[in-house]
Amino acid sequence: MTPNPPRIHVEDEKIARLRTFYGILESTKEHVELDLGCGAGSFTIALASRYPERQIYAADMLMGRLRKVVRRAENAGCSNVQAMQVEARYLLSRLLPDNSLDRIHLLCPDPWPKDRHRGHRLLASDFTTQIHRVLKEDGIFHFSSDDVNYCNAVGRVLEASGLFTPCNEAIADLDGVSSDFENHWKEQGLAVPHRAWKRLPLPVPGIGH
Ligand SMILES: C[S@@+](CC[C@H](N)C(=O)[O-])C[C@H]1O[C@@H](n2cnc3c(N)ncnc32)[C@H](O)[C@@H]1O
Repeated sequence: MTPNPPRIHVEDEKIARLRTFYGILESTKEHVELDLGCGAGSFTIALASRYPERQIYAADMLMGRLRKVVRRAENAGCSNVQAMQVEARYLLSRLLPDNSLDRIHLLCPDPWPKDRHRGHRLLASDFTTQIHRVLKEDGIFHFSSDDVNYCNAVGRVLEASGLFTPCNEAIADLDGVSSDFENHWKEQGLAVPHRAWKRLPLPVPGIGH
C-alpha cells in the first residue's frame, strides 16, 4: 500500500518559526502590537483591519491556529499581520529586543485555576519584568480573562512590581474588537473584563542595590 503523502499547508510559508525576532522587527511600521497567545485570531484580524497603519504580530504555539490567522488575514485583506510560531516566555525573554512594542495583548490566557497548576500561568513576576523590558516607554500591557481570580492576581503582580500603573483608558480604541475566547465566554453569559497598565520607567536603584 502506498503511504499517504504528507499534507502540505500553503499557509506555513507565511508563519515565521522564530529563532530571532530582530530581523522581523527591522522592517516594520512605527507602531507595533503583539497579540500573545493569539489563538484563531479574531482579535488580531479585527485590530489589524481597524488600524492598517500598525504592525500586528500574532504569536502562538499551535500551527493549526496560526494557519487560521493567516487565512483570516488574507480574507480580510490585511497585509499588516505577521503570524509566528513561538513559545510566549521564550519570545519575551530571549527574542524580543528592549523597548520594541507599543502594546502587548494577553487575552483570555489559559487560567490554570487549580493550585497545583498555577506555575503554568504566563503571568508570573519574572514574566512581568520581561513585559516591562520589551515595551516601549509608555507602552501598554492589555489583559482579559473570564477568571476573576486570575484577573485580580495579575493586577496584584503588576502593581506590586512597581513597573506598571493601571491605565484602562489606553484600550479605549479597542471598543468592539474582541477575541474568539471572549466571544465564546460571553455567549455562555460570562463577563470578560479587560484591564490595561502603562509601563513606568525603571525605578532608580537605592544605595546597596
Ligand atoms: C485560551 S486560548 C486564548 C486565545 C485568544 N487569545 C483568545 O482570546 O481567543 C490560549 C492560547 O494561547 C496559546 N498558548 C498557551 N500557552 C502558550 C505559550 N506558552 N506560548 C505561546 N502560546 C501559548 C494556546 O495555544 C492558545 O491558542
